[in-house]
Amino acid sequence: MNSSVPPHSDLPRFPESLWRSTTDLPTFDKLRETIYTDVAVIGAGISGITTAYLLAKEGVRVTLVEMNRVLEGTTGYTTAKITTQHGLIYDKLLHHFGEEQARLYHDANHEAMEFIWRTVGEHGIDCDLEKQDAYLYADSDESLKQLQKEWSAYEKLGLPGEWTESIPIPLVVQGAIKMPDQAQFHPLHYLRTMLDYILNHGGTIYEQTTLSGELEQKEDGVLHLKTSDGYTLKCNQVVAATHFPFYDGGGLFFSRLHAERSYVVAIEPETSYAGGMYINAGSPSRSLRSAKLDGRDVILVGGENHKTGQGLCTIKYYENLELFGGELLGAKRIPYRWSAQDLITLDEVPYIGRLNDKHPNIYVATGFGKWGMTNGTLSALLIRDLILNRDNRYAELFSPSRFKADPSIKNFVVQNANVAKELIAGKVDIIHRKADDLQPDEGSLVQHLGKKAAAYKDKDGKLFIVDATCTHMGCEVNWNEGERTWDCPCHGSRYDHKGKVIEGPATEPLKPYDSQQH
Ligand code: FES
Repeated sequence: MNSSVPPHSDLPRFPESLWRSTTDLPTFDKLRETIYTDVAVIGAGISGITTAYLLAKEGVRVTLVEMNRVLEGTTGYTTAKITTQHGLIYDKLLHHFGEEQARLYHDANHEAMEFIWRTVGEHGIDCDLEKQDAYLYADSDESLKQLQKEWSAYEKLGLPGEWTESIPIPLVVQGAIKMPDQAQFHPLHYLRTMLDYILNHGGTIYEQTTLSGELEQKEDGVLHLKTSDGYTLKCNQVVAATHFPFYDGGGLFFSRLHAERSYVVAIEPETSYAGGMYINAGSPSRSLRSAKLDGRDVILVGGENHKTGQGLCTIKYYENLELFGGELLGAKRIPYRWSAQDLITLDEVPYIGRLNDKHPNIYVATGFGKWGMTNGTLSALLIRDLILNRDNRYAELFSPSRFKADPSIKNFVVQNANVAKELIAGKVDIIHRKADDLQPDEGSLVQHLGKKAAAYKDKDGKLFIVDATCTHMGCEVNWNEGERTWDCPCHGSRYDHKGKVIEGPATEPLKPYDSQQH
C-alpha cells in the first residue's frame, strides 16, 4: 500500500469529483462566538442541507454547522443516482421487516425522488435533472439466483419494474430488473440553491467548526453544544447529519454502523452511450451512469467497494474500473477519479429520527448505504416532521432505536468481531521501515523514535509524521495511497496526511511528531 498513481495509468494523479470541480461553492466563517438558535443542524451534506432548507421554509431559525467545507463529504463524491432501486434490498426487507415495511421503504424513497423533482421545478434549478431507467443486472450464475429472488420481491410488493434478458448497453447479462422513470442530476448544483435559500430565509452557516461531542441539556431544556474551540452553540433541538453522529448518547453507533469506500472514474467514451443507470447484483460491484462535462457525455463508472482501511492497494480499484469502462465503451480520456465513504447499518435501513427516549430533542440521520440521494432527502423530510410534531408514517421503520434480531444480531457479531480483529492486528504488526526510506509522494507506517508512526513524504521531500493510533478508539490507521489519507480499519475515521480529521467518528487529529524529525 505504498505507491502513488503509476506512470502507465491514464488516471488523474489526484482525486477530485466532477461535481465539486464544476460548482462554485460559497465559503463560510468558522463559529467564533457563543450563539443561540432554534435548531442546529450539524453536517452540510444532502441530509443536513435539505433539513436546514425545509426548516427555514417553515420559518424556523436554523444554523447549519460543518466540520470541514460544505459538500466536501460523501455528497460531493456521490454518483448521484436518484432511484428506489437500491441493489438487492427488497428481498431482504421482505424477510426481515415484512411486506408492509418493505413497501414503506420503497414509498419513502419514492416520495424523496418526487420531492427533488418538485424542488427543482419550484426554484428553476439548472442541475441536469433527467429521467433515466435504472437496471439491476446479473453478471454471474450466483448473482442471477439472487436477482431472481429480488424480482419475486418486486412482484410480491407490486413495485414498478420489469424483468428483461438484455440491457441497452453492450454488456452480456444473464437477466436484469428494469425500474423505469428513475433519475439522475448534478447534486451540487441542486444543493447550492438550497444553501442560498437558507441564507436568504434567516439561516446561518458555519464551516470548519468541529463539535467536541460535549453536550449538556440545561434545566430550561436548552442544549449546549461545545465546539472544539471552546464556544457554545445553544439550541432547542439538534440534528446530527454527520455520518457517525457527533454525539453518541448511548446509541452505540460505532457498533451498529460500518464504513465502506467505493470508487468512481469519469470516462469520456469513444462510443455512444445508450442511456440508463446500471448496477450489478454481484461482486465486484459495478455501476454506470452518464453525466455532462462541457456539453459532452462522460460516463461515471463506479464500484469496487470495500471496508474502509481494509482494502488492498487503493489505486488498483481505480485501475479495475478504468479497465472495465475502457473495455465497455472505449476511453478517450479520464478527466476525473474520486471515491466516497458510505455507512451501512446492521439491517441496511438508515437510522433516522430521535436518538432515543433519553434524548428526544436530538435527531440523527445516518446509514444511507450507497443511496444517499433519496435516503438523505427522506431523512430531511422525516426529521422536519418530527421537529414540527407532524405525523410521518415512516418514523417507525427508520427509528434509530428499532431492533430487528434477524439480521441485526448476526451482523452485530460479524462487524464487531472484525473491529476486534483489526484492533489486535494493528497492535501486533511489526514495522521495519523508516521514514527516510520513503519515496516522494509516498506514505507508510514506519518505526519512529522507537514507536510505530504514520509517515508521508510529499513530492518536495517534506516529511509529515503523526501518531498511527486512531483517536477514536485506538486502532492503527493505514495509508490510502489513492486519496493520500490515513484510514482507520475499525470504524472508518479518516485523516489527511497532516493528521487532520476528514471523516469521523474521530473528532481529534492524529498527534503530530515534528515533521522534520526523523
Ligand atoms: Fe474507531 Fe478508529 S474509527 S478506532
